[in-house]
Amino acid sequence: MNRLSRLIAKKNVRHFCTHNPLSDKRPIMSTLWGYEFNLGIYDGVWRVGNGNSIKSRNPFTGETNSIITTGNITDYKEIIQKMYIGKKDWMNVPMPQRGEIVRQIGIQLRENKEQLAHLITLETGKIKTEALGEVQEAIDICDYAVGLSRMPNGSIIPSERTDYQLMERYNPLKKHVGIITAFNFPCAVFFWNTALNLICGNTQIWKGSEITPLTSIVCNNIVSNVLERNNIPGSIASMIIADGSVGEVMSNDNNIELLSFTGSTKVGNQVNVNVAKKFGRSILELGGNAASIVTQNTRLNPAIDAITFASVGTTGQRCTTTRRIYVHENVYDEFLHKLKNRYSQIVIGNPFDKKVFMGPLINDSAINIYKDTISNIENSPFASIEYGGNVLENNCVQPTIVSCNNEFSLTKQEAFVPIVYIMKYNDLNEAIYMNNDVEQGLGSSIFSDNLNEVSEWLGPNGSDCGIVNVNTSTSGAEIGLAFGGNKSTGWGRHAGSDSWKQYMRRSSVAMNYSKSDKVELAQGVSFNDTNTEVLEKDEFVFDIKNPHIDHHGSFIKTKSKKIPLIYGLSSYLDNCIRQDNSVSIKRKTKRKPLIKPSNNYYH
Ligand code: UN1
Repeated sequence: MNRLSRLIAKKNVRHFCTHNPLSDKRPIMSTLWGYEFNLGIYDGVWRVGNGNSIKSRNPFTGETNSIITTGNITDYKEIIQKMYIGKKDWMNVPMPQRGEIVRQIGIQLRENKEQLAHLITLETGKIKTEALGEVQEAIDICDYAVGLSRMPNGSIIPSERTDYQLMERYNPLKKHVGIITAFNFPCAVFFWNTALNLICGNTQIWKGSEITPLTSIVCNNIVSNVLERNNIPGSIASMIIADGSVGEVMSNDNNIELLSFTGSTKVGNQVNVNVAKKFGRSILELGGNAASIVTQNTRLNPAIDAITFASVGTTGQRCTTTRRIYVHENVYDEFLHKLKNRYSQIVIGNPFDKKVFMGPLINDSAINIYKDTISNIENSPFASIEYGGNVLENNCVQPTIVSCNNEFSLTKQEAFVPIVYIMKYNDLNEAIYMNNDVEQGLGSSIFSDNLNEVSEWLGPNGSDCGIVNVNTSTSGAEIGLAFGGNKSTGWGRHAGSDSWKQYMRRSSVAMNYSKSDKVELAQGVSFNDTNTEVLEKDEFVFDIKNPHIDHHGSFIKTKSKKIPLIYGLSSYLDNCIRQDNSVSIKRKTKRKPLIKPSNNYYH
């Protein structure tokens, strides 16, 4: 046990105390309501960076929450070097003890759930219940990672060679992990990465969105406080608030062995190219354009519930937001009528208000995307607005339903606003075709109680997305599943299932534990003539009275007993009964016998 793991082991005998680390060194939460909290760099200490200052804004009121100092490329390079300091110690801490650290992080998230959700609502404008759900998602992945820290097992695989063992081992990465996240899930996506990355024994640098710097600072502070109080160098979980230039450097940096990137398809594409150029690894979580298929074999009310949440939740700013609905022609009118009715009940406004179901869009550029999209729809003969289409006060917009057909080009694009396109179909294969007929491949759902339809949807002719739901919302995936999408969504997988494997270096191990002074090669290859010769000369003499081999070659019979020849051995028998009644077994081929006959064996 090294010094660090001893320290951790000793400290963690007790249960974690109820003391709130957020009011420990830096009274973070109180700063939000009182004075400014503005340090945008953490690499073991919180410090001022050399970048420009930026504002954290409340998207509903437009008020400034805080001014934050950011870091630049020089700061980034310094941080990266500092991260190597604690790396070796951290990767040698036993995994379950690393899990203990994540357990403590989960406790801090629980204790600060309400305040952190408040902050998320303040900075993103998502309604409180969704913000609480986001923190819960962070707690869930911590719990998951704690359990996982005792079971991310490799495997033992049988070897064809004698006294050999094949196995797979998972070790921490040699270099750092980079995490770049977006404004819409500023807490959960960070913890998806952090919880797994820390149990896997890695160091990380996080560049959160510039739009949500306070949430980044508070989330990272939860992690850093737990690390520091356990005497682990905080630099293993560093962060920098910075602009895209730092993100670009990260994607090209050889110090970053794995880059988890959540963001637009456009930027993700460049990240993908940069990472590929240096033969690095990435987890890409890019644009989605989820669809829901409403068949005639479903109960419309739950479908309306699920689809409304999926289309309007987080003001249409989730990757998993339903942007396309394909409805069977027999239920189309009724469904549309009910959906419009449901939309009309959505209260829009201040996300802190409990009655409000939809808060503001994140900023002016999102409002402009909404406006431009609406004007394109209004100018098109192929689409018409069924509900909504207006910009309201305080960065709010009306959730919007647009009827069109699948050829309408905007249905193929992801506009990160609450506009959903509704289309008719009459044959399920056609609906599935339309579901798949876009570049993106993240979320999808079918609403059907018909086994054949559901089976078709889940099978080889079905949805081509990473998330393929049945009778539920495309938004709101649980952490137990691997989260991510196919095609231009980037093929990345975060969170549950076997996503942890991406944060580790897999070794395929062939281990020879034979005491022989010769090495046995796979596939029967004999690379050494001397070796072969020796084998061919092998001869074993048995001193058994009156033996003979039965006509199948499966026994050596003596007066008193039948000695079975283990499969394979009989092929090595050659004129084996000698005149003196002993048995001689000679190798006939170059292959090594499966069982090496020996005198002892037959006595
Ligand atoms: C995202 O929109 O980037 O499935 C993440 C969901 C959430 C995660 C969304 N659990 O909607």
